[in-house]
This record gives sequence, structure tokens and C-alpha cells, in this order.
Amino acid sequence: MIQALRDARKGCGWTQRVLATKVGVSTQSIKRLEAGMGSVSTLVAVMGALEFRLTGLGPGKTLGEQLRNKRLARNWSLRKTADKTGLAVNTVVCLEGDGGSVASLQVLIQKLAPTARRRAPERAYWGQGDKEDRDARFTPPGLLGAVTEAFGSIDIDPCGHELSPVQAKRSILLSEGGDGLRDDWSGRLAFVNPPFSEQQKWLRRAHDQWSAGRIEVAVCLVPTRTDSQWFHEVLSQSASIYFLKGRVRFTDPRGRTQATPHSVMLVILGAAENEKVTLASQLPGVWML
Ligand SMILES: C[S@@+](CC[C@H](N)C(=O)[O-])C[C@H]1O[C@@H](n2cnc3c(N)ncnc32)[C@H](O)[C@@H]1O
Repeated sequence: MIQALRDARKGCGWTQRVLATKVGVSTQSIKRLEAGMGSVSTLVAVMGALEFRLTGLGPGKTLGEQLRNKRLARNWSLRKTADKTGLAVNTVVCLEGDGGSVASLQVLIQKLAPTARRRAPERAYWGQGDKEDRDARFTPPGLLGAVTEAFGSIDIDPCGHELSPVQAKRSILLSEGGDGLRDDWSGRLAFVNPPFSEQQKWLRRAHDQWSAGRIEVAVCLVPTRTDSQWFHEVLSQSASIYFLKGRVRFTDPRGRTQATPHSVMLVILGAAENEKVTLASQLPGVWML
């Protein structure tokens, strides 16, 4: 179970420190938990943050209830459970109240429900989960291939993610204390697939960095939203806009792939004509004239 918990954290793309911050405990507590130590209360909080559920226990809203119902289903009294596990009766009672230690919990589960395992994560829909979860959507390699074929290698990904397939010489990562909305961009080509919840902020940032000459070309992958005054008065005057045909399938940190519920476009600053021709030969879509 502990190994599965660690895998679930990594699947979310979270370091132990990020998970600790989300749960409101120290990084040391997460380290201890992943070494099979610490308290069940921390474990329960971590399971909640990771949407980690177990199958093979009894019904119930809490882990303690599930343990108790499994025990009752097996017709084990508290005494019998204590005898079978080598735990004290009080410890079993404590575990059934979501207390106690992870070490005792593992002993209890091993004897009471040896087949218990992680329940397959439910399929999430676009836009569900917390903000960070919704924002982490990775560009498909095929689209990245078309971009690099047309514009060359990517120098900077200002809104990167450790698990993303984007290969950039420099990635600005939140997890390393970076901030693509504040840190200077650098290099020739920036590839920008920003959090869709902050599309306008990122487009403005790309435009600022490009206007300031910090980068030569910016390729921004964003939802097709063209209604703002800024789009009409500024962006559309300086950018080449390519409307993609069909829906792009993004992958999330848990490895689930899903198409966007809306169309997307590439907003490109600094594109040369021959690069635009190459892009169109690689990726179905239409240029805004
Ligand atoms: C849509 S994902 C794109 C990931 C990657 N660039 C790709 O295309 O596969 C956007 C990422 O931006 C990150 N992010 C959000 N705000 C940021 C900021 N201010 N600075 C740097 N990265 C940020 C989020 O963590 C998220 O993983």
C-alpha cells in the first residue's frame, strides 16, 4: 500500500514537499509515511489529497469504518482480530477510529484484508480537480513535433512541468520556485502552453517578452478565445493565428489523455512565412488572414 501511495504521488507530479504543503504537514512527515511510519491521521489526509482509495475493505466513508466493516463481515471479534494480528485490542479500536500508527495499520490490513489494493483512479473530466490539477495538461508529442519541424528546437518553456514531454533548453518550473510570469524569458523560440485558466495573462506576458526582444518567436497554444479588446487591438495585429482542426488531446500528470471540450489555436509571434507554410503542412488547420 505504501509503494502504491508513493506511485500515486509521483503520478500527480508532486514532490514530497509539494504534497506536504497541500496536506499541511512537514516534508519529514511525508518521508516517514513513505517509509511505512507515522500516523494514520497523516495517511488519511494524504489519501484524500491524492484521491487514493482502497478496494478490498468493507463499505464505509472512512478508512476506519471500512476496516471495522471488513472485520464484521469476516465475523472477527476485536479479541480474535487482536489474536490474529498480534496487535492489542485497544490498537484495533484506535485504527477503526482512524487513529494509531501506519505500521499497525499495515499489520491489520495484511491479516484482515490481504487482497486490499489501490482502487483504479476514476476518470476525471476536463476542468475537474483543484486548480493546479486542471492547469497541468501536457502538449501531445505529435503537436510538439510539428512545432519543432516548423520553428526549430524549443529554447524556453516558461510554464513547464517535470512530467511534460516538452523538451526545452530551459523550463521555468513552479516546483523549483520559478515564475514564468515574472522571470525573464530567454533564447530564440518559446513554446507556451499556459494554464488555460490564465490564458490572457500568459498571452500578454508572451507579447511583452517578444516585444522586449527577449525571445524571437513565441508559439502559444491556447483556447480559441478571440473576444477581448486586447486580442482585437493588439494581439491580432502582431501575431499569426492558426486555428487547429479537431480537438487536441492533452495528457494530465496521472497519464490520462483527454480532448479539450473547446477548440484551440496557436498564437505565434515572430513567425516567418516559410515557417508558417511548414507548420500548415504538418498540422491540419487554417491561418487567420
Ligand atoms: C498546461 S501545463 C503545460 C505544461 C507544459 N508546458 C506542456 O506544454 O506540456 C501549464 C503548466 O504551467 C505551470 N504554471 C502555472 N503557473 C506558472 C507560473 N507562474 N510559472 C511557471 N509555471 C507555471 C503549471 O504548473 C502547469 O503545469
